[in-house]
Amino acid sequence: MTVRVGVVGVGNIGSSHALNLARVVSGSAVSVLFDADPDRAAALAADLGARSVRTVPELFDADDVDAVLVASPDDVHAEQLLLGLPAGKPVLCEKPLATTEADARAVIDAEVGLGRRLVQLGFMRRFDPGYVQLKQELTAQGIGEPLVVHNVHRNTSAPYGLVTERTLTNMVVHELDIGRWLLDEEYASVMVVAGRPGPLTPDGQHDPILVVLRTASGVVVEVEAFANAQYGYEVVCRVTGSRGQAVMGDGSYITRSTSFSRGVDLPELWLGRFAEAYRLQLQGWVDAVQGGEPFPGATSWDGFAATVVATRAVEAYRSGGWVDVVLPPRPSLYAGPDVGPRP
Ligand SMILES: NC(=O)c1ccc[n+]([C@@H]2O[C@H](COP(=O)([O-])OP(=O)(O)OC[C@H]3O[C@@H](n4cnc5c(N)ncnc54)[C@H](O)[C@@H]3O)[C@@H](O)[C@H]2O)c1
Repeated sequence: MTVRVGVVGVGNIGSSHALNLARVVSGSAVSVLFDADPDRAAALAADLGARSVRTVPELFDADDVDAVLVASPDDVHAEQLLLGLPAGKPVLCEKPLATTEADARAVIDAEVGLGRRLVQLGFMRRFDPGYVQLKQELTAQGIGEPLVVHNVHRNTSAPYGLVTERTLTNMVVHELDIGRWLLDEEYASVMVVAGRPGPLTPDGQHDPILVVLRTASGVVVEVEAFANAQYGYEVVCRVTGSRGQAVMGDGSYITRSTSFSRGVDLPELWLGRFAEAYRLQLQGWVDAVQGGEPFPGATSWDGFAATVVATRAVEAYRSGGWVDVVLPPRPSLYAGPDVGPRP
């Protein structure tokens, strides 16, 4: 059976996912599109042999939609999931699940109410060959116990305008998720250090920032997030272990020597760096939908956890101090091995 996917939001990433689903991923087709800009949806629909609709419920309820991909702006994900989940169709929702804890909680409550995990969250780094290998390194314990995780996350330019709170809820949320996944544990506290702003930082905002977290077992995780780094898109994760180190992201590209210098190319956007992760994420999701299997990626609970930590980081940024992170009990619907065993 071909999985006919409806796509909500066909901007930068939504159109890339739609093209992948229509032309690269096996077992899927794109049937229906919705965007707040109807001309944009209609133009892409014409390209893909799909149709466009005027409302989100129309898309979720359509007979020719088996599964839905949500790639609208961050602050409408929760509202659209709440509208669509009663249709009972599988959803791949771009990160973040929500920008507030209350919105994220509402999605969890809706799924628990339906008694089914319908949502996979688009934390695609869990599918990235680099991060997967890093996770294998940690599992094999060749570098011993992880003690410190240093992350670097730099964008060429802030994609939605530079607002420091958004850097935390939209950008750093990737590291918040991948840290939980790599270490198989939750964060206990967070603080945000804002230093001297870079030249493109608007008044009253901070960029770059350093986010420092402690996990429940005391591992220190830090994230340097620089949204207007200008020179390219770069992600690095360096884990210091009790008897070694593992580094993901340094030197993973071709090294070219010419004109008496040696160097590597950097992508301008995440679409270049994580192309394979996006493809593998979509293929894994489509395969799971086809086979009626559990999704291979992050759950709504993972999205909720990441949003809770991001909102505590926003509080820490505003207060300048450490803020505790406490998650409520995990509903049994989300029991399982997605981030490893829990105490
Ligand atoms: N996983 C990743 O690495 C990754 C990368 C980029 C973006 N994203 C996420 O994907 C989402 C979209 O980001 P983008 O970069 O494509 O943004 P974008 O601004 O390029 O596109 C957003 C699209 O949504 C449309 N839109 C606006 N309001 C809408 C609504 N209420 N309903 C439906 N469509 C609406 C806009 O017209 C536009 O076409 C964001 O949540 C972002 O965080 C994830």
